[in-house]
Amino acid sequence: MPHIGTVRPRQPADVRVRSLGKEYPSRSGAPVAAMADVDLEIPAGEFVCVVGASGCGKSTLLRILAGFEHATAGSVEVGGLPVTGPDPERGVVFQDYGLFPWLSVRENIAYGPRQARLQRPVVQERTDRFLDAVGLTRFADRFPSELSGGMQQRVAIARVLANDPSLLLMDEPFGALDALTRSSLQGELSRIHRETGTTVLFITHSIEEAVYLADRVVVMAGGAAHGVPGHVREEIRIPLGPDRDVTSAEFNALKRRISALVHQEATAA
Ligand SMILES: Nc1ncnc2c1ncn2[C@@H]1O[C@H](COP(=O)(O)OP(=O)(O)OP(=O)(O)O)[C@@H](O)[C@H]1O
Ligand SMILES: [Mg+2]
Repeated sequence: MPHIGTVRPRQPADVRVRSLGKEYPSRSGAPVAAMADVDLEIPAGEFVCVVGASGCGKSTLLRILAGFEHATAGSVEVGGLPVTGPDPERGVVFQDYGLFPWLSVRENIAYGPRQARLQRPVVQERTDRFLDAVGLTRFADRFPSELSGGMQQRVAIARVLANDPSLLLMDEPFGALDALTRSSLQGELSRIHRETGTTVLFITHSIEEAVYLADRVVVMAGGAAHGVPGHVREEIRIPLGPDRDVTSAEFNALKRRISALVHQEATAA
């Protein structure tokens, strides 16, 4: 049955990761322990950034939460329900935008709501709202190949938001963008998070980006290259309000503290 009239926004979901482990099979026979004993609780609406050296299991964690990958130990619950597979309720944004090249910007954003068989006015309202939220109203009829990288990533973000996700999972979404575009998208994402209240798990290699965006930063460490499975090293609350000043003393003290943790783990996991 199609939904009728306007649709009530979904509540943001909480996340519970318990004793999570992941082993990948390897050609040599012995499985590779990518991650072990990861515990993480994210209250509904929180913005969590995950940082840590390459190979410590950040993307593995995100893919398990997205339902693209199954854990080999422990459990994952989103909104109180175990994750059994991908679902548009959990919106995923990667570094490469993953847009449909044969669809216009508007059609890319409308794709999810159409698949959900929402009524035409609801699809239209959501599409317009998120086109506006990411500043692309004027570009609605262009195709992805006609847009810059930053604009394509804006479409990718609008496209998952149009599904009204209860959890947003982002894996280095701004990693391929130039510094100026990146900082303007960070500002937009922060504002969108305040407006939608969606729970966000955001992976980044930029500690500055993490301190700018997050309510809490999770530092992961380890990984196959260190001979220890990936794990959570430390969680740091970011007690800064909105509109953060990246030049302030508090901001830079947090950056230094997290950087020391990441660096320490990169050399001696
Ligand atoms: N499909 C796979 N098959 C085998 N091993 C894998 C697979 N995917 C990841 N791994 C291994 O699991 C570990 C964690 O990988 P993951 O991609 O989660 O790290 P990451 O923290 O996201 O790293 P990066 O910062 O480089 O993106 C690594 O040792 C990696 O080689
Ligand atoms: Mg990764």
